[in-house]
Amino acid sequence: MRKVTLHNKTFEVFISDTEIAEIVHSISNQINNSGVKDPLFIAVMNGAFLFAADVMRKITIPNAEISFIKLSSYSGTETTGKVSELIGIEGNISGRNIVILEDIIDTGITLEKIISLLKEEEVADIKVATLLFKPDAYTKDIHIDFIGKSIPNDFVVGYGLDYDEIGRNLPHIYKLKN
Ligand code: IMP
Ligand code: MG
Repeated sequence: MRKVTLHNKTFEVFISDTEIAEIVHSISNQINNSGVKDPLFIAVMNGAFLFAADVMRKITIPNAEISFIKLSSYSGTETTGKVSELIGIEGNISGRNIVILEDIIDTGITLEKIISLLKEEEVADIKVATLLFKPDAYTKDIHIDFIGKSIPNDFVVGYGLDYDEIGRNLPHIYKLKN
């Protein structure tokens, strides 16, 4: 489907499933070659669930683990600027080498919050991998180690990303049609 309608808004294909697979392949290779030891991947739910599943299958680093956390700053197509607390970290993660897996980094508010909460857990190292990055919207100085694709400041949906909770199941990534 080249076009989809979600909550009465029309979206058109922006990044095809084939291109997504290439991006996932490339970012997984970069992580594998980064020298990170015994990584604990932390996938940010719900948006990163497909990205995390696809990346994990390509990770060849020994003793790789994954956990899932939840935190959100979005309502509709606008960021609210507010984030809730971190849910989903169980047990002691102090001293661990963390690789955050994000679907998209927009303003960076969510990322900053996650990193500050992880630092409270006294982790050894934090690296950040994101499928998509909106450089024009980013307001933080935090370095992003692995970027799948930088995109313009458009609202996108599909491959895990939602528009008010729907559209996550779409195999391609779509953008709002003007
Ligand atoms: P930030 O805190 O502004 O960086 O936003 C990060 C979170 O907002 C992501 O993890 C997504 O869940 C969501 N988000 C940001 N941009 C989009 C978008 O274009 N489509 C769908 N969700 C988005
Ligand atoms: Mg979301």
